[in-house]
Amino acid sequence: MKSTLNLPPILLILAILGLWHCQPEKQPEKGLKDYYQAYFPMGVAVSPYSLDDSATVKLILSQFSSLTAENAMKMGPIHPHQDTFRWEPADKIVAFAEQHGLKLRGHTLCWHSQAPDWMFVEGDSQRVSKDTLLARLENHIAAVAGRYSGKIYAWDVVNEAISDAPDEFYRNSIWYEVCGEEYIAKAFEYARKYDPAAKLIYNDYNVFDSAKCEKIYQMVKSMREKGVPIDGVGLQGHWSVYGPSEDQLRRTLDRLSGLGVELQITELDISIYQKEGTRREKRDTDIDVFTPELGQRQIDTYDMIFRVFRDYKDAITSVTFWNISDKHSWLDNFPVRGRKDYPLLFDQDHQPKKAYNAVVNF
Ligand code: G3I
Repeated sequence: MKSTLNLPPILLILAILGLWHCQPEKQPEKGLKDYYQAYFPMGVAVSPYSLDDSATVKLILSQFSSLTAENAMKMGPIHPHQDTFRWEPADKIVAFAEQHGLKLRGHTLCWHSQAPDWMFVEGDSQRVSKDTLLARLENHIAAVAGRYSGKIYAWDVVNEAISDAPDEFYRNSIWYEVCGEEYIAKAFEYARKYDPAAKLIYNDYNVFDSAKCEKIYQMVKSMREKGVPIDGVGLQGHWSVYGPSEDQLRRTLDRLSGLGVELQITELDISIYQKEGTRREKRDTDIDVFTPELGQRQIDTYDMIFRVFRDYKDAITSVTFWNISDKHSWLDNFPVRGRKDYPLLFDQDHQPKKAYNAVVNF
């Protein structure tokens, strides 16, 4: 057999085999982080336990470039007693992020929920004094922000300080009851002092509600004017196939962009149920089936949301999903314990859902 390249056939075969062998490994599938590289980092909230499962780790590493500790860095879990810190769960997440070159968001240095009881009690009296509470807050932030200084690029410093009630500005938490609004400024000042490089974020939910959005806008604006180091606003993004509308989302992003600070989507999930504010028991009428029409609504919702996010890429500096896949969501137990939800882009087997295609095909 005459070879076309005037090469003895055996050499031609060896050449072809050699070329074939040099073929680069099949490129790993692109993930969310790759599709959105030109827009913003795509992140996910994790527990330390989720990092023990190889399939979960594979999904995290292929899809995301940023992590948030779902619970491990909160005040109660990490500082359960005045002289006791539980570093291991948070350390595990930090080590995983460092090992894999992932960005890390800290969550959260000051919150009324999951705060340890000891924080608010002093001596025999039930309520701590303002000076003592602020000293404890500084000690907490010094320890936690100090330990992870340089490893966390953005901290949710204060979480959910604004009230949902139309006739209230600040949430009437124990923090506010004891310190007034001063605890908010102090938390940011302490965070800057003990982790000077981190972006300091004010984080809240229902931010698309125009009244709440306006309160957040006014608080951040006035505090920044007084020199409080707030670098950004976190919009949690616990939304639903029933809202917010595109118009509500755009109006919120337009208003908050006017602050000239970073906007971060910090806890995105799209529930298949109407939002309810308070916890309740499951009823016979609660049907927790992910029907085709709910699937289509979720596709349309994610499609709209990420179209809007892309339009605001100059203001939005990160998007983080709250939990990894429909295998587990905090929404499976809130507001209705035991009512399964399907809020994320990956199904219970960690496979991309149709909504994933809507997010990446643009
Ligand atoms: O760790 C304990 C465990 O030892 C105990 O056996 C178990 C019994 O109930 O509770 C476990 O703690 C739970 C914790 O999650 C860790 O799983 C708490 O009960 C439970 O209340 C807690 O829920 C977290 C919730 O915040 C608390 O408000 C959710 O996982 C977490 O996803 C959720 O996240 C918040 C954000 O931090 C702030 N924005 C709202 C968002 C949803 O509420």
